[in-house]
Amino acid sequence: MKRIYALFTFALLMIQVAKADEGMWLLSMLDKMNFKDMEAKGLRLTKEQLYSINNSSLKDASIWFNNGCTGEFVSSEGLVLTNHHCGYDAIAELSTTQDNILDNGFWAKDRASERVPKTPMVVTRVVRVDDITDQVLAKLAGVAEKDRARKLTEIYKELEKKATEGSHFTATSREMFKGNAYYLFVLEKFTDIRLVGTPPQNIGKFGGETDNWMWPRHTGDFSMFRVYSGADNKPAKYSPSNVAYKPLKHLSISLKGYKEGDFAMIIGFPGRTNRYEFSQGVAMATDIVDPSIVNLRDIRLKAWKEQMIQDEATRLLLSSDYASVANYWKFFDGEAEQLKRNKVFEKKAAEEKAFGQWAANREEYKSLLYDIDQVYTLYKPYALQATYMRECIGAPTIMQLASLGFSLDALYFERDTIMKNKTMSKADKAKRLADIDSNIAKTCQLTLVALDEFNYTDRIIAADKKIFLGMLSMYYKNIPSSQWPEVFKKIASKIKNGNSEMVFAKYTDMVFSKSIFASKEKIAAFLKKPSYSKLLADPAFSLYKAHRENYLTNFKPKVDEFMSQSLALGRKYIKGLMEMYPNRYFYPDANSCQRLTYGTIRSYNPKDGVHYDYITTIDGVMEKYIPGDYEFDLPMRLVDLYKSKDFGRYAMSNGKLPVAFLSDNDITGGNSGSPVMDGDGNLIGIAFDGNWEAMSGNIDFDQTYKRTISVDIRYVLWLIDKFGGASHIVAEMTIIE
Ligand code: ARG
Repeated sequence: MKRIYALFTFALLMIQVAKADEGMWLLSMLDKMNFKDMEAKGLRLTKEQLYSINNSSLKDASIWFNNGCTGEFVSSEGLVLTNHHCGYDAIAELSTTQDNILDNGFWAKDRASERVPKTPMVVTRVVRVDDITDQVLAKLAGVAEKDRARKLTEIYKELEKKATEGSHFTATSREMFKGNAYYLFVLEKFTDIRLVGTPPQNIGKFGGETDNWMWPRHTGDFSMFRVYSGADNKPAKYSPSNVAYKPLKHLSISLKGYKEGDFAMIIGFPGRTNRYEFSQGVAMATDIVDPSIVNLRDIRLKAWKEQMIQDEATRLLLSSDYASVANYWKFFDGEAEQLKRNKVFEKKAAEEKAFGQWAANREEYKSLLYDIDQVYTLYKPYALQATYMRECIGAPTIMQLASLGFSLDALYFERDTIMKNKTMSKADKAKRLADIDSNIAKTCQLTLVALDEFNYTDRIIAADKKIFLGMLSMYYKNIPSSQWPEVFKKIASKIKNGNSEMVFAKYTDMVFSKSIFASKEKIAAFLKKPSYSKLLADPAFSLYKAHRENYLTNFKPKVDEFMSQSLALGRKYIKGLMEMYPNRYFYPDANSCQRLTYGTIRSYNPKDGVHYDYITTIDGVMEKYIPGDYEFDLPMRLVDLYKSKDFGRYAMSNGKLPVAFLSDNDITGGNSGSPVMDGDGNLIGIAFDGNWEAMSGNIDFDQTYKRTISVDIRYVLWLIDKFGGASHIVAEMTIIE
């Protein structure tokens, strides 16, 4: 008996120890989380050192990088580290076949050589965070659910104005716990950002799509930028006379390394999670939405790849789009697979069942589960509409180009309406028409500028034709005919005895030979001499317009209704859970604002009998090396340096050079580029990915499998210093040996 008892307590202890660290905590609400647990795991800093509005703190070192990633200050001169895949677009845009920094890498030898991105970038610093829950909820009292979103926008606007009055700061507000709490973020936005350095992409993206979202990993996924400001250290738009920004705080870098079980924390800007999703939502993801996205993206990727491997210039033009479409193509494949493997539906259903028992005799909650079921059942037949609008109909470039015609269409429509108006005075009419005509001229000008952003070369058009054809077939196969717009019904009516491929191929040929939107030259010529009848008669424009109107009138209202109802139900569910488990620490879903996650360096077992170590080294880079391969090639210089074992102070005590490591931190997309820090707040790595076995992570944090993949800071510095020969950049940093 005693032994059993001892075993039992041991098992309990194991569960405690083995529990991975779920939670994306707001730095300003450290009081509402388990700070003691952070200390127990190895944090040696105070709350004030993490977040302070009066003194510089770690929150000042972690910045929102270009509205989608995270970065961190690593010098007093505004130097920022982030991921290679976060700088990818800027790097690719600066690359040409003559000056191919995407393939060759780039290290600025001095300030003057730093590169100004073609598309301006933005770095956002959090000035402070205000809890505005009481004010918002007071103003929302009595507001009907359908008016809530609109009212919220008004409330935010007013509070944000008040919070930033008399300063150059901006503000943004966030709904937390689906509307049980609200926070306002005061921000400082910098827009003069310059590229300082990047490894060649066969280091920065080593392993390509094959290794993406997977461990063991060997990617040097980092790039470097510098934030510039006016002489007053305040944000200023690009000017050669701007100076390096002096951040309130920059991170010190530790070369001391870590071992299994050591404390690790991350401060970054996670984009979106849905951890309080209902079981019905999980089923919708695994059965309907995720597989559709994968199949649709497959068409785009195959058509692009075919052209990219044939021609370097095309590869450079399409690289960035390819990488981002491929990233979430694999993501959704993994999400569906792991939601099933990790039994997330069953887990959610069990949680809901327990909630149902608790709620059975509580008036406020007792019908909740039934209501959820109703809302999802009603919505299910339309669940693919939004996805298909975005990933199918809106995916071919020709459709995006056609969408440039929408503003003109609206103006011409207005013009026609005025022309037909019999009650308006002649003078009034003339004035209104003149106004509209000048608007049309202006719109044509702006559209020409927008057109400039598109790459639509012969090779890209050839790929686009395949994509267009593929999308028509997918739409035909997977969307019920009762949901088609008239135009599509007409095209499909020509199909006989299953010859849909032929019918769509003929139609595609017609569109690409006749449409204005099938070539940039034709669009430009049209904009110089625009005509309403030509626009309306255009086959690409009319197809897209029909689909868009079909969506807006018949399906968007259903999508909106579903969103608003499921949000309201989710709000109630979370409120109920908080009452049901009064001692549990709750954290809000990720929503693109600054968060902290803490945990430990940690290995894992991906499946029975297989162990994954928590660290990889450059030995593994060489093991994966395939000369000439699209994903696993390496620069000769790296191979040579490896042979000479010239790792200097960046080697571990066993002489090996570390490359990547694992921790059980809770991150998601948007955390890319985040600083991974030790218990003293020193930088040990840059987070860049999640692992395959926990791809279900946006909906459920898996206690066994969820890991963060980071590039070791020693590999980063070795690449800058020894590989790139840019020791002057390392010299700028604060390094602890
Ligand atoms: N999976 C990474 C993330 O979302 C991005 C990796 C980008 N690399 C690529 N091969 N597409 O954070």
